[in-house]
Amino acid sequence: MRAYTIQQALINLRERFSPASDSPELDAQVLLTQIIKKTRTWILAHTEYELTSCEKEACDHAISKIEFGIPLPYILGHWEFYGREYLITPDVLIPRPETELMVEKALVWLKEYASKADDILAADIGCGSGCIGISLAAEIPNLHIISSDISWAAVNVALQNAARHSVTSHLHIVQCDLIPPINRPLQVICANLPYIPTSTLTRLDVYKKEPTLALDGGMDGLYLIEPLLSISPHFLAKRGLILLEIESTITDKVTKLSHDAFPNAAINVFQDLSGHDRLIAIQQGK
Ligand SMILES: C[S@@+](CC[C@H](N)C(=O)[O-])C[C@H]1O[C@@H](n2cnc3c(N)ncnc32)[C@H](O)[C@@H]1O
Repeated sequence: MRAYTIQQALINLRERFSPASDSPELDAQVLLTQIIKKTRTWILAHTEYELTSCEKEACDHAISKIEFGIPLPYILGHWEFYGREYLITPDVLIPRPETELMVEKALVWLKEYASKADDILAADIGCGSGCIGISLAAEIPNLHIISSDISWAAVNVALQNAARHSVTSHLHIVQCDLIPPINRPLQVICANLPYIPTSTLTRLDVYKKEPTLALDGGMDGLYLIEPLLSISPHFLAKRGLILLEIESTITDKVTKLSHDAFPNAAINVFQDLSGHDRLIAIQQGK
């Protein structure tokens, strides 16, 4: 039988990743680091290494998952977001680099506010894996965060991620529809809720590969953002900040809804690294 080397495994994996990935070479290397338990540098320096039968079996198993259309983060069972590793299962959205913009903006605001306040309360609505709230909780010690998700399965993943990053003492994860009943004002509300209009979503490659509950924004993409904006004035602190992730097709509608809900607020739209509208910031009391 012909030896199955790293070189051969990389070729096979790259071929399988190619139809659906922008970075098949890198994906193949990353997957192999997990199978062989060596760094990428080691793998690239030892392409003649022969895989053991166990490693070959793991490779074959991964190949059948790729052929079945399962995204790499679900095969690996983890993914990086804002410099931290998160447990990822098919119950949660794979954290996207675009969402790091929300974390960056929230941190700038919170760091300034945190220097003047003893205790701050924020919310991460539609927390999924927990990546937004955990990133904030890990960086700001006097911040308390309420992370909510309607999916019990997502809540379970977020709880495990909170424990993994040692933030359970100031991150409270709850299962509920949008914002849970609380009697203290929220200084910051972050929400990356589903916002892709249904008709767009069904044409995308991610459709049925990641939870529809995490992506489907209804007919106009607003079916959760609109109710969130209508209840938010009740929860937001006088000088509070709301950050909403969006896509460019809904910028105008979300801007209008934001003005309706917060007529005196400063409303700004921010673009992601590809130049697409990605974030709406509503700053109260400015
Ligand atoms: C786009 S995903 C974002 C996940 C995570 N925050 C992230 O950025 O990777 C949207 C999340 O909202 C949750 N969700 C959907 N409807 C909800 C609702 N009515 N209330 C709270 N969360 C909801 C979904 O289960 C999903 O986890």
